[in-house]
Amino acid sequence: MRTVIAGNWKMNKDRSQALQLLGHLAQAAAELPAGVEVFVAPAFPFLSLAVERLQGAPIAVAAQHCHEAVSGAYTGEVSAGMLASCGVKACIVGHSERRQYFGETDAAVHARIKAVLSVGITPIYCCGELRADREAGRHQEVVGAQVHEALTGLPGEAMAKLIVAYEPVWAIGTGLNATAAQAQEMHAFIRGRLRALAPEQAEGIPILYGGSCKPENAAELFAGPDVNGGLIGGASLDAGAFLELVRIAHRMKKPE
Ligand code: PGA
Repeated sequence: MRTVIAGNWKMNKDRSQALQLLGHLAQAAAELPAGVEVFVAPAFPFLSLAVERLQGAPIAVAAQHCHEAVSGAYTGEVSAGMLASCGVKACIVGHSERRQYFGETDAAVHARIKAVLSVGITPIYCCGELRADREAGRHQEVVGAQVHEALTGLPGEAMAKLIVAYEPVWAIGTGLNATAAQAQEMHAFIRGRLRALAPEQAEGIPILYGGSCKPENAAELFAGPDVNGGLIGGASLDAGAFLELVRIAHRMKKPE
């Protein structure tokens, strides 16, 4: 089964700090265990730099966001084609911070997934419930609706190219990760939804856990049969922690 570790740097690190972290990752690349797909997602200004510095390393570069249009009068935005032309291989779509602070709707997420797929790069599609949703016991209903809105209508071949990340909003950046049981339960639920949308492809779609995932809790979280790695925020800003997460994901990798 595909196993993925993706680092979301968010709006962190200036040029020299980004170069330092990329340097550490490039240096360690030779020791990385094969069989885990590794991505790092720096901020826009450093994407080309990251592609250059990680050339030859088994670490691909992802963006954190893109616009759904091919080009045009969208000041401040970046298209999926622009990303692909820089050597970027994946793009995070629908992160809860984009939904929360920038008004990203499920419809926009759907359009962006299509835009990303159309240029041959991988969407890392994020879903997850708010704390209030979980407290009210409607977490599956909320995530089910997100998945439905974002992915309905995508053909099977497109679904096969997706990476999904389950990120409970209450766990992101809070230090309060989901329990392994909560993660596995939701991943199995998402897998079921994927099966309904794309029966042939669903079993092969990696579903990552995100939300305060770090070396201390990763082995437990990644043990779930439907957990295929992690989308890592805070811990991806430190080369040692991030590389350790890759090693843990390798140990917990599910058989093909
Ligand atoms: P965190 O962020 O690991 O810092 O909680 C995860 C994410 O937002 O992708």
